[in-house]
Amino acid sequence: MRQVHTNHSLLAHNTFHIESSAGYFSEPSSIDELKYLMEYAHQRELEQLVIGEGSNMLFRNNFEGLVIHPLMSGIHKTDESDSEILVRVGTAENWDNFVSFCVDHSWYGPENLSLIPGSVGSAPVQNIGAYGVEAKDLIEYVEAYDKQSGELVSFSNQACEFAYRNSIFKHGQINRYIISHVVFRLSKKSELNLEYGNVKEYFEKQAEQNLSTLRDTIIKIREQKLPNPDEYGNAGSFFKNPVIQRSLFEDLLKRNSTIPHYSSGSNHVKIPAAWLIDQCGWKGSREGDVGCWPNQPLVIVNYGQASGDDIYRFSEKIKKSVKEKFGIELEREVKVIG
Ligand code: EPU
Repeated sequence: MRQVHTNHSLLAHNTFHIESSAGYFSEPSSIDELKYLMEYAHQRELEQLVIGEGSNMLFRNNFEGLVIHPLMSGIHKTDESDSEILVRVGTAENWDNFVSFCVDHSWYGPENLSLIPGSVGSAPVQNIGAYGVEAKDLIEYVEAYDKQSGELVSFSNQACEFAYRNSIFKHGQINRYIISHVVFRLSKKSELNLEYGNVKEYFEKQAEQNLSTLRDTIIKIREQKLPNPDEYGNAGSFFKNPVIQRSLFEDLLKRNSTIPHYSSGSNHVKIPAAWLIDQCGWKGSREGDVGCWPNQPLVIVNYGQASGDDIYRFSEKIKKSVKEKFGIELEREVKVIG
């Protein structure tokens, strides 16, 4: 059976590069090993936390319970038609390696999600998204271990209840399921999504325009805007883009005629959190080893030895100033532990 480590460092398991530790830590690679761990945790009454690559987590404190880092891997084609392909991928596969694999095989769909940090199993949890594509557009079903029944269960796309950076695995049933595999429906048709922001403009500068150069374009755009977590600890967007009532938006528009916005249903409007934070003067600011990234203020960075609590307190100051200036409550995208 898989070993359970005690007092295990989580430094290599979170992209903020926070030094914290897990009371117990284990990396199961099969459902049987998971079952054993559940029994182990139950006997000792341990709280459990499942992690992927820790690219969306902020550890404020040590975690006294059992951290489970599932290692189910593999990328396998399970079905194919003239126009589509079904691919089953293990939860531990690195997301960007999977995207690269798809591009190499001319499977269309995930290319706009190039270079997003994290594991495949995390993609459905927060319905990762970028440049006009979300995980929900590609997921056929999700396989998970149900801690309550001890059985393997499968969630259709609809059953996942996907929403903007949200799913059934993040709200409501957060602690019940452990994702083992994700099955994607990808396309063989050469259709590219160039609608978001300046993607088209950048893409057209490429000498050749195909699936592979679209991936290169997305990587270039991301590298210009976002800090590389290997160099500067971060977890991507710290907050979600807030969706506000249209009436509040109309009020704000009177005071800020240039406020960027996107319609979100007939009664709501989505505002870029980056703009709100920028307007409050945080862009490029720094307090000790914590700062707001100069090219994208929605990203909070650990410039060195910041603790999880330093980052959390900095983020609360940002939240407070946005609330004071705009009356808008920012909601964290990052999951705070402790
Ligand atoms: N903006 C500013 N100042 C800045 C940067 C941006 O005012 O310094 C404003 C601009 O109006 C810009 C707008 O913010 O048009 C949107 O910026 P951007 O296109 O960079 O995207 P975002 O809304 O800030 C979202 C996702 C990103 C994803 C990008 C591209 C969320 C919370 N974030 O960011 O996802 O890469 O779109 O699709 O939805 C992540 O989730 O971790 C993440 C990085």
